[in-house]
Amino acid sequence: MRPFFLMKSLKSNYTSYDIIVLGAGAAGLMAAARLPGCRVLVIDHNAGPGRKIAISGGGRCNVTNAEVGPQHYLGDAGFVEKVLSRFGPDALLAYLRSGGCEPVLRKGRHYFCPESARQLIDFFQSRTAHADFSYESSIESVEKCGERFAVHTSAGRFEAPKVLVATGGLSYAGVGATGIGFAIAEGFGHRIVPPRPALVGLTLQPSEFWMKALSGVSLEAEIAVGRRRLRGDLLFAHRGISGPAVLDASLYWNGGRIIVDFLPGVRLKSLLKNPKKSVMNRLPLPRRFLQAFFDAAEIPNIPYAAMNEAQKQRLSLLKSYALAPAGTFGYARAEVTKGGVATEEIDPRSMESRLVPGLFFAGEVVDVTGRLGGYNFQWAFSSAVTAAKGMADGIIGT
Ligand code: FDA
Repeated sequence: MRPFFLMKSLKSNYTSYDIIVLGAGAAGLMAAARLPGCRVLVIDHNAGPGRKIAISGGGRCNVTNAEVGPQHYLGDAGFVEKVLSRFGPDALLAYLRSGGCEPVLRKGRHYFCPESARQLIDFFQSRTAHADFSYESSIESVEKCGERFAVHTSAGRFEAPKVLVATGGLSYAGVGATGIGFAIAEGFGHRIVPPRPALVGLTLQPSEFWMKALSGVSLEAEIAVGRRRLRGDLLFAHRGISGPAVLDASLYWNGGRIIVDFLPGVRLKSLLKNPKKSVMNRLPLPRRFLQAFFDAAEIPNIPYAAMNEAQKQRLSLLKSYALAPAGTFGYARAEVTKGGVATEEIDPRSMESRLVPGLFFAGEVVDVTGRLGGYNFQWAFSSAVTAAKGMADGIIGT
């Protein structure tokens, strides 16, 4: 049987629609699904929908999080709250259940597709049967001609009075990411908060190259970036440091130092009370890590009581190790792009541009970025539902 998306590829000769959605990712698909009474065209240069959904959450897509709230996002908190309140996790879960997609709760707060991210893509395909799709069509530019927009693509020119920019950010070009959304917004006079890779590993300065020998070692850590404290697994990688705590920290890191606590929740001194035991045997950390740390810090593996003050000082770095990352692993490895279309020029009640009537934004292209754990899909869905309501206004009178 031919895949559904190929059957749904644009076959009509229509070039004129009520609404054109740019991008068949999470935000674009959700918006199209919520516009059943409209003539909608969705354009994407991939061969099918939701390429990034398919690879997300280890193939099972972490669709949302029970603790969604503006405190978990980088961006204007008031703006984020208004949009999330229109379509939060409960509404999302109820909507998915209504179509037979029943996310399962993992680790107390993360909702994943029960078996595969494909279930979410199938859900959207069943909910977008009313829409036209133009796949393998590269979006080149958008211009406004009077009351209508003309969208120029490699498959031709399409027109509509309303356009939703849902083309995501720059992360993972291999599954379709381009900067076209930023270029379109900028072309219409919108300010772009400079994009940067986020939820990404951090590379090291030469002073920290001792960590490279630890590639594959993982431990629990708490990372302080400014006033933020991010706790979770830290994974040493060949190129630097990664793992959930580092990915979250990268969201708030804009250069400068981070401080790592390799023993979160543990008081070092209380561990080292026994005066006879050598220090390494007292510390609940992987042996490979301890060996590398002790070598780099030139600390002998002797009882704590036998250490001189300088050695004790260096040992205390386990609780507050300051390092200045050299950079990030880059867009090729970044789960998201932070920055994007500035929110002060978007109406949070409709996601419509305050500068250009009829132009709407949703998803990662907007300057709102969530932490690891389902927050970014929730943002994509909340902003898409808000945009769909805004776009439907005046067409189907909702
Ligand atoms: P998205 O990038 O999904 O869609 C944009 C679409 O626009 C793409 O289909 C692209 O092809 C298309 N496009 C771009 N330029 C174009 C052009 N010039 N012409 C035509 N089409 C164009 N989040 C989360 O909450 N839970 C998770 O489990 C994960 N896991 C995860 C894993 C990995 C490996 C990555 C890379 C990312 C995640 N994320 C995540 C982040 C999440 O995937 C991301 O935030 C959303 O997909 C953003 O949805 P959008 O629809 O905004 O962009």
